[in-house]
Amino acid sequence: MHKKFLYAGVAVLLFSFLTFTGCKQDDMPKAKTHEEMVALGKYIVTTGGCEDCHSPKIYTEKGPEFDTTRSLSGFPANETLPDIDLNMVTPGKWVMTEKNFSAWVGPWGISYASNITPDKATGIGTLTEEMFIKSFREGKYMGVGRPLLPPMPWQVIGKKTDEDLKAIYAYLMSIKPIHNMVPQPTPPDKIMEMQTKK
Ligand code: HEC
Repeated sequence: MHKKFLYAGVAVLLFSFLTFTGCKQDDMPKAKTHEEMVALGKYIVTTGGCEDCHSPKIYTEKGPEFDTTRSLSGFPANETLPDIDLNMVTPGKWVMTEKNFSAWVGPWGISYASNITPDKATGIGTLTEEMFIKSFREGKYMGVGRPLLPPMPWQVIGKKTDEDLKAIYAYLMSIKPIHNMVPQPTPPDKIMEMQTKK
């Protein structure tokens, strides 16, 4: 009689073990569909502060808001920067930005937030996924070029998983392309020249 219970007990254990391991396989993470990657990328970009620097702003009584007609198109090429007092931006003094938070002045000169819409001529439309990921991992313009300048937080974004960076790429490639040719950075010794040329 006792033996019978023992056999039954073993059978129950074996059954639950098999069911459990079977379930485990069903729970394995499945590769995300393209739509799911775009949705994840949208979540990361909209909660990750990218628009703080990469989207032009409109000013309301409440302060700056994102100009949703030009989302993520970078420093507006048609805007002229106000004059800069160079004594204020020598090392150890101020780092400054303009009204869109998209042009930044510091000891590195002036950097301009890139157009990260998929426009082929002026945005990241021709960038491959691999180059895009490399730009964050290695802090290089277009993934292969010059070092990226402050305040682009590539050191932080570059710590994301491959899946997150691929999702950001999928999302950015899905948004409206905007034609806006962001200027190349101005080296520190060229700021004066730029101001007198205006
Ligand atoms: C504090 C401001 C700031 C924030 C926040 C920011 N960026 Fe940037 N980003 C910049 C600036 C400025 C540049 C241009 C740097 C340069 O020219 O060297 C840049 C450059 C880039 C580039 C390089 C484009 C190229 O052609 O190589 C990509 C891609 C990019 N940013 C994506 C993002 C994403 C995605 C986020 C959010 C997760 C983000 N940035 C958040 C300021 C910022």
